[in-house]
Amino acid sequence: MSERLGNNTVYLGGAKDFYEQLVVNPEWNAAMAEIDDPNNIDNSEEVAKKGSYHGLRHARAVEQIAEEFLSELGVDEDTIYLAKSAALLHDIGLTVDEDNHEKEGEVFAQEVLKSSSLPDDQRAKILHAIKDHRRGDDITNVVDAAVLLGDKLDVTKDRLRPEAMNLDAVNRDVANISKVSLDVSDKSLDVHYETDDGYIPTTLFSEWPKAIEAPKKVAEFIGRDFNFYINGEPYLHGFDEERD
Ligand SMILES: [Fe+2]
Ligand SMILES: [Fe+2]
Repeated sequence: MSERLGNNTVYLGGAKDFYEQLVVNPEWNAAMAEIDDPNNIDNSEEVAKKGSYHGLRHARAVEQIAEEFLSELGVDEDTIYLAKSAALLHDIGLTVDEDNHEKEGEVFAQEVLKSSSLPDDQRAKILHAIKDHRRGDDITNVVDAAVLLGDKLDVTKDRLRPEAMNLDAVNRDVANISKVSLDVSDKSLDVHYETDDGYIPTTLFSEWPKAIEAPKKVAEFIGRDFNFYINGEPYLHGFDEERD
């Protein structure tokens, strides 16, 4: 639903309307295409650095995981659509500055939100989830938790550019992960990795501990135990102790 007022389009409606308007927003679509455009990668160092997709494919994967998590948690529809919107926006700042992309993403989202009629508390949730998605140092609500979780669980082989599969040990680990899924019960948040031929991606966990630490933080935030399985077997090594 939208209404023309002078030269400005004013979007009316709630969180679901905002989401539906976002996915057809030309600037958002252009930014998603720009992030994964191979023409923006011009040498092997860049391929290594940008070996995983961060544009539309990743945004949609984060959205799907966030939605599944919140549905299993049993939250209201508005909250789900706020998380879906934040998921689609969380990496958009990569078009401006990789090192500060969470802050640049917040700026982009503020611009988009200017023309929406969302109440302040809902705007704040979208913006905060974008700002906190990298480390999850300040989870304040389930929208934050959902986007953080989605971002860190999108680690299957189809996340990688084909040319990056064998570039380094972390990418080789990810190249052996075929599926990641989650399960929320009254007691626990369970994360399941399925890997090729029983592969254990130890380098991924040592080089990028957020893969485990972020879901663990989310479990703590929602008051659940955290369980992690690889091919159906509990995997505890290396992250059952507190890290600095
Ligand atoms: Fe990011
Ligand atoms: Fe991301």
